[in-house]
Amino acid sequence: MSLAKDIKSILVNEQQIKEICERLGKEITNDYKSKERPIMIGLLKGCVPFLSDLARHIDLPIEIEYMDVSSYHGGISSSGDVKIRKDMNTSVAGRDILIAEDIVDTGRTLDTIVKLLKHRGAKSVEIVTLLDKPAGRVIPFEPKYVGVTIPKEFVVGYGLDYEEIYRNLPYVGILKPEIYTK
Ligand code: IMP
Repeated sequence: MSLAKDIKSILVNEQQIKEICERLGKEITNDYKSKERPIMIGLLKGCVPFLSDLARHIDLPIEIEYMDVSSYHGGISSSGDVKIRKDMNTSVAGRDILIAEDIVDTGRTLDTIVKLLKHRGAKSVEIVTLLDKPAGRVIPFEPKYVGVTIPKEFVVGYGLDYEEIYRNLPYVGILKPEIYTK
């Protein structure tokens, strides 16, 4: 059974993803070159392909950590209730933090995590996101590094899921509405 048959259209293709990772990697390398061992924190599970591709374009000694934070519960809209399922293993006190995210939608997840990391004493906290969906915001939130701004559509692939499926598509596509309305 093919995954592609559930996709209405491709929004960000493999070549565009490659170019985004190269561009953001260069920018981050330049901005962080005078910082001491920044920590890149990936938010599981959606960050995995993006973090992995992006990190290979950052030419600096960085540490990589993960947190598992949930705001969706299997559906297509955020519950607004952010839970930490798995915390990171290192102290962030006095450290420069770059959070890697697949998509910023309502802004609730990142607003919560940024506040938490600052409360824990992080020296700086910035966001790099592959996708930004500003029309979905309920909390004002501006990620510093954005791969591409997208319209208010439910998208899957390259880490993003619908009910845990489609994360392994190599591109980002708009899911056919009949998949989540049936
Ligand atoms: P926020 O807290 O509403 O900004 O939600 C961010 C999280 O919601 C992301 O890390 C995704 O897990 C999920 N999300 C938001 N929009 C989409 C989408 O279009 N497809 C799949 N997951 C999404």
